[in-house]
Amino acid sequence: MPSDEMPVSLASGRYIEGGRQNAKHFLKMPSDKMPVSFASGRCIKRERFKQMLSKNITDAMKTNSVIRAMFNEGKEMAAKIGAGNVYDFSLGNPATPAPAKVNQAIKDAVDTFDSMELHGYMSNSGYPDVRGAVADNLNRRFGTDFDFHNIIMTVGAAGGLNIILKAFIDPGDEVIAFAPYFGEYKGYVANFGGKLVEVAPDPRNFQPDLDDFEKKITERTKAVIINTPNNPTGVIYSDETMESMGAILSKKEEEYGHEIYLISDEPYRELVYDGAPVRFLTRFYHNTLVGYSFSKSLSLPGERIGYVVVPNEVTDAEDVLTGIEIANRQLGFVNAPSLIQKAVAQCLDEKTDVAYYDKNRELLYGKLSEMGFTCIRPQGAFYLWVKSPVPNEEEFVQAAKKYHILFVKGSAFACPGYVRIAYCVSYERIEKSLPAFEKLAVDFGLN
Ligand SMILES: Cc1ncc(COP(=O)(O)O)c(C=O)c1O
Repeated sequence: MPSDEMPVSLASGRYIEGGRQNAKHFLKMPSDKMPVSFASGRCIKRERFKQMLSKNITDAMKTNSVIRAMFNEGKEMAAKIGAGNVYDFSLGNPATPAPAKVNQAIKDAVDTFDSMELHGYMSNSGYPDVRGAVADNLNRRFGTDFDFHNIIMTVGAAGGLNIILKAFIDPGDEVIAFAPYFGEYKGYVANFGGKLVEVAPDPRNFQPDLDDFEKKITERTKAVIINTPNNPTGVIYSDETMESMGAILSKKEEEYGHEIYLISDEPYRELVYDGAPVRFLTRFYHNTLVGYSFSKSLSLPGERIGYVVVPNEVTDAEDVLTGIEIANRQLGFVNAPSLIQKAVAQCLDEKTDVAYYDKNRELLYGKLSEMGFTCIRPQGAFYLWVKSPVPNEEEFVQAAKKYHILFVKGSAFACPGYVRIAYCVSYERIEKSLPAFEKLAVDFGLN
């Protein structure tokens, strides 16, 4: 039967235990032990033979996506008490539909392009006309000077980050990330035998702690990943932070005599509030590569579309571009999905309904603060970062479940003592959840 070692993301279905020689069939498993992501079907649990899964994946299975596990828990809760009574703030899934122009652009692409062109293989970097459209759009908005060579279309931000890391990372190389950070970075870096080095969080304002950063850069540091607006804190890194970070990196490049690449992971670039300026971060440091995604900005996470930018200022930019292009092929992405490439090229000035998220932000941040919770006011993205009223935030997460509130523990982002509440849900859902949050506040002696 499944043990604690078992991945949390398996689903219901038949389950067979005992290895090849001695298979027992289980048609139903007890739900509390049930692995969550194994779609219904038959499964044989090995007993006699050595575990053949890689160490990398075996390790990942032990901590397999806390966020997905919560999401699945929410579904189970909803099945028991009704979806209307569950306040699930666990997943960063956009809550607004894709702009109407996206659907139109998909239809137009089907109607306009020759089938062989629209569905055929292409350069591993994507369609030149689409890359050119992205470059022109960035130049117009940010005063940059790109052409299609500088752009590689990718399978979302996740695909973009992985191909960049594959291009640079040899086993043992170090990649720095600032806690709290998107938990998947660890797996991405491990894919290439790299070591993720964490910079401690600065709980005063969750800007990067640059003193700690400087100490963490070593001879083996190849790359640094940043994400602003940030998941999970909603903080935007200030110009001052970025200038100082650029200066530290330039100094360390001199000291160690090799390049250190700054990888800017930007799925939330367009999702900013209060008129915060949207920066294109290549201006702060010459060796900056950008990974962008349309997952949140156009509400298209399932379409798997984004791009990487390698500016000419990057050292050996031509080689870096070729390396990333080869990585795209070698990792099996080959090229970004063709139809949606053509569609997003028509929608580069479109964006999701930021006002929708802004309204949610004001409501949730305002009300939770009034109740006595300590919250970081989000400047961008759609997450609220809240200090746990008790040191072990797991206790807080469990207590919230009593009121059918689901949010994610900070440890999933390498920052215990906090939780992340994803407010990419409807306004009404947040309104309805407030009495439950009120009870939680009382339980923890807040107000
Ligand atoms: C910070 C961050 N980076 C990368 C990703 C992955 O984005 P995509 O769906 O475009 O691969 C996410 C998704 O939530 C994210 O929050």
